[in-house]
Amino acid sequence: MKIQLSMSLAIGATILLAASTSSQVPISPPCDYKWFEQSIDHFGTRNGTFQQRFSISTQYFKPGGPILYFVGEETTFLDCVNDTVLPSFAEQLGGIAVSLEHRYFGESLPFGSRSQEVNNLRLLTLENVMADGVRFAEWLRESVPGAEKSRVILASGSYGAFLATAMRQSHPSTFFAAISSAAPVRGFIRADNTSNGHNPDYTLQQFFAASFEATMNIRNAFASMHDEIRSGNASAVREALNLCTTPTANESVLATIDNIYDTAISVLLEFDYAHTRPGRINVTNSFGRIIDFSLKSHEPLGILKYGLGLYFTENPLPCVNWTDTATIFKGITPVIQRETFGYIGCTYHPNAVGTMGHARIFAQNAILSYLPSLEACKKKYNVTPAREDEIWSRFKISPAHLANSTRIIFSNAEHDPISGQAPQAMPLSDDVCRSRVLWTSGMAHREDLFKPEAGDKVEVEKTRRKEVEILKSWLALCAGD
Ligand SMILES: *[C@@H]1O[C@H](CO)[C@@H](O)[C@H](O)[C@H]1NC(C)=O
Ligand SMILES: *[C@@H]1O[C@H](CO)[C@@H](O)[C@H](O)[C@H]1NC(C)=O
Ligand SMILES: *[C@@H]1O[C@H](CO)[C@@H](O)[C@H](O)[C@H]1NC(C)=O
Ligand SMILES: *[C@@H]1O[C@H](CO)[C@@H](O)[C@H](O)[C@H]1NC(C)=O
Ligand SMILES: *[C@@H]1O[C@H](CO)[C@@H](O)[C@H](O)[C@H]1NC(C)=O
Ligand SMILES: *[C@@H]1O[C@H](CO)[C@@H](O)[C@H](O)[C@H]1NC(C)=O
Ligand SMILES: *[C@@H]1O[C@H](CO)[C@@H](O)[C@H](O)[C@H]1NC(C)=O
Ligand SMILES: *[C@@H]1O[C@H](CO)[C@@H](O)[C@H](O)[C@H]1NC(C)=O
Repeated sequence: MKIQLSMSLAIGATILLAASTSSQVPISPPCDYKWFEQSIDHFGTRNGTFQQRFSISTQYFKPGGPILYFVGEETTFLDCVNDTVLPSFAEQLGGIAVSLEHRYFGESLPFGSRSQEVNNLRLLTLENVMADGVRFAEWLRESVPGAEKSRVILASGSYGAFLATAMRQSHPSTFFAAISSAAPVRGFIRADNTSNGHNPDYTLQQFFAASFEATMNIRNAFASMHDEIRSGNASAVREALNLCTTPTANESVLATIDNIYDTAISVLLEFDYAHTRPGRINVTNSFGRIIDFSLKSHEPLGILKYGLGLYFTENPLPCVNWTDTATIFKGITPVIQRETFGYIGCTYHPNAVGTMGHARIFAQNAILSYLPSLEACKKKYNVTPAREDEIWSRFKISPAHLANSTRIIFSNAEHDPISGQAPQAMPLSDDVCRSRVLWTSGMAHREDLFKPEAGDKVEVEKTRRKEVEILKSWLALCAGD
């Protein structure tokens, strides 16, 4: 669940917010977790093993049926397989449904409580993450009776969809197919430092398509905020937004406040779910809410206050501590394990959308740079992030590789900034095994991967059905790698 936060946010250099407004501490729902003995390093630089957590359902398995493998995301706890869409797919395909926790996340810690130490993080490489999955798949085939020849189908969302894509492309003989929902496979730092910021562009287009007038009112809210602060009326802004302290009238302070509200409002598109999603957002229909409110509000700054307020449930809300943006972002998506994900942002997944000379989405004057993040990566971990070209070639996920790929379903949601970082389309082909892009109207970020329940959007239900039918055709008609 990546929010449109640039790497800079993730690693804390120029990070955000304040306020003790973090109200939704994510708690792992009940799950019958199990443990798997995994190598600390698959490439021989370190001996030893650690316990990696997983969950499994063999309830619907028929011998020879597929293994549906949910790739753990960058979260504070592993999604129980029962809380994903996979048991429902397993029921239709006679498969096994499993989820495996990502190394260094949740309780799958190669060095226990010392896993976050800089020296210990060096084995958090994408090569090791992928090899964990290969070993786990082999082990499942060895240990579940009837699964010796089962084909493995990956599924995951957001950063997890990047993983599933890289795994299918890098280990095609182990991973037969993948469902990559909201896959950020571009928007990384580029060697020439130019913008690849499709995510802000995509987001703005969705706001305009929902309501031109509401979008202009949101832009006007940022402009009003800037005008008030620049003209010496910052105390009125403090009062209107319930800020903890009065902002000083300088451009770096304005950029900080822009970052908080611009991110908050754009993520209302991403988390526009049909159900509340603890750890992500605790209201439904967040996009419709901000659009409606922006149309009706007579107070421009009220729009900003309302947008940020939708993430928090405390009543009354504490003041917004804009000098501590890290805490604010943690409150917006507490389900992300930021400390560890920050390291990944400094190495093999340097998500830099919106920071390469690109304007903010609504505060059009604020131009961002990722260069401070590069410095922070150097200082904190003594690493330099891989550049986009290198990531594309090392993991075989360049646009050319993906255009020529087979058996990946790229599931893109209309209501999701991350759609701007996913493949937009695939060339038509007479080969049914070629990868596909599915676009789902009104769907939010990786919404197809949640466990089906009453009240789901009809379009999301249809997409899940398509996914199962495509998998059936691939299982029946496609062979080899
Ligand atoms: C989130 O909303 C649900 C109802 O939709 C409520 O039961 C729950 O207490 C809320 N969570 C928090 C942390 O306020
Ligand atoms: C999934 O749910 C079923 C039915 O409630 C239960 O028997 C099983 O233990 C659960 N699986 C896990 C991994 O928690
Ligand atoms: C791992 O263990 C083997 C066998 O004991 C040993 O030969 C090797 O040097 C060890 N490797 C490392 C990196 O410690
Ligand atoms: C891109 O930024 C890096 C880091 O500041 C710098 O070393 C490099 O020269 C820049 N490249 C170009 C082509 O401007
Ligand atoms: C300051 O803001 C308040 C509230 O928006 C407004 O009533 C007042 O006119 C403003 N004062 C100046 C000097 O702009
Ligand atoms: C802007 O304000 C911040 C926070 O008050 C301060 O640290 C910084 O030095 C100021 N910058 C300028 C250019 O005045
Ligand atoms: C705001 O955050 C700063 C930095 O973490 C902290 O020093 C300060 O006490 C916080 N202020 C409030 C009112 O919470
Ligand atoms: C595309 O894939 C086929 C086999 O799947 C391969 O023979 C061909 O070289 C690939 N083309 C490119 C441009 O990668």
